[in-house]
Amino acid sequence: MTACIVGWSHGKFGKLDGETSESLIVKAASEAIAHAGIEPRDVDVIYVGNMNGGFVRQEFHSSLTLQAHPDLRFKPSTRVENACATGSAAIHMGLNTLAAGKARFVLVVGVEKMTELNSAQAGEVLIKASYVAEEATIEAGFAGIFGKITSAYFQRYGDKSDALAKIAVKAHKNGAKNPYAHFQKEFAYEFCRTPSDKNPFVAGPLKRTDCSPVTDGAAAVILTDVGTALGMKQAIAFRAAEHVNDFLPMSRRDIIKFEGPQLAWQRALKSAHLDLLDLSFVESHDCFTSAELIEYEAMGLTAPGEGERAIHEGWVERDGKLPVNVSGGLKAKGHPVGATGVSMHVMSAMQLSGTAPEGLQLPKAKLGGVFNMGGAAVANYVSILEPLR
Ligand code: COA
Repeated sequence: MTACIVGWSHGKFGKLDGETSESLIVKAASEAIAHAGIEPRDVDVIYVGNMNGGFVRQEFHSSLTLQAHPDLRFKPSTRVENACATGSAAIHMGLNTLAAGKARFVLVVGVEKMTELNSAQAGEVLIKASYVAEEATIEAGFAGIFGKITSAYFQRYGDKSDALAKIAVKAHKNGAKNPYAHFQKEFAYEFCRTPSDKNPFVAGPLKRTDCSPVTDGAAAVILTDVGTALGMKQAIAFRAAEHVNDFLPMSRRDIIKFEGPQLAWQRALKSAHLDLLDLSFVESHDCFTSAELIEYEAMGLTAPGEGERAIHEGWVERDGKLPVNVSGGLKAKGHPVGATGVSMHVMSAMQLSGTAPEGLQLPKAKLGGVFNMGGAAVANYVSILEPLR
């Protein structure tokens, strides 16, 4: 790979009353440009990752980035959408643009303003990222899709509710240290494991604590080529970046196998000449705790059906052999869908540059993996990142 992240920004995720997608974009873009130490006029191309689909009335977000500075006027800017992998999709567009020699600096902003709708309404928007012809009648929005996947997994491999509760506990323990996270508090195992008024079943075996929340937020990165990056303040290189799409209908796939994520991981590790355990950490797409469980298997950490070992034996804890979602993940940090993939890259860049917030920074972060997923294992993106120098 020949590209680097040389600047980034990450706003606080949460229910951001008073913010709009425009204000979030402007802040994220301005801060990333400043962090890279470039001028707005140096930006050649802009991509805005935004799913929307009805979260806000404003569609057509590309030119809202130009509100950040008059010198951005007349720059080519394009909105990118690939469901919950929208942020990584926008980054990949930036990488392709650099590889084509069409830009020196690319600004990528990921943004979503979800909380103008209540959870049920947000679920109606999110279910559009399923195969509507067959799946949109499933109840409880996208949680219903993963409720179905989780039930199928439990049928094949047994009830894994203990493992799911432990994944939620881990996410919130890590998220409690992340000042950017939507939820910054720990959740007890008994609370996550036991259905209650405060933790009701949402879909199938999934309780509220198994779901990522409905969140507002934005993050941004500046990308450039390696030659240019060598002269910049900070540079995190892409050692690999792979994108694999699978069929959309769940009926055309063995849905608990996550074959698209598995192939994306295999291709990324192969092209980086690495084994999974060479990575210092992974930021993985835990839109639901069961997604993270199956992703342990897809990334090759355990055999199929044995994902629970990774959490029961502590491998994926902050101090384990492969820390997963040290940031708190989507579960605690929040999942503003268009921003999520960009956020994962920013969190990883912070770790790899040694600039993660106190308490979040890992002692020896040399190689980071990012897995961002759109739909139910449909649009799958893996990045492997390392410091350029
Ligand atoms: N995890 C833990 N706590 C949560 C939570 C979550 N995901 N979502 C909300 N809460 C908390 C709130 O902070 C609030 O706490 P409080 O009473 O202490 O203030 C309480 O639960 C009630 O919040 P509310 O927003 O009314 O909950 P809800 O039942 O309407 O929504 C979900 C909960 C899980 C249904 C909603 O977050 C959801 O739909 N998540 C899935 C989003 C999704 O599908 N994303 C795409 C994935 S691909």
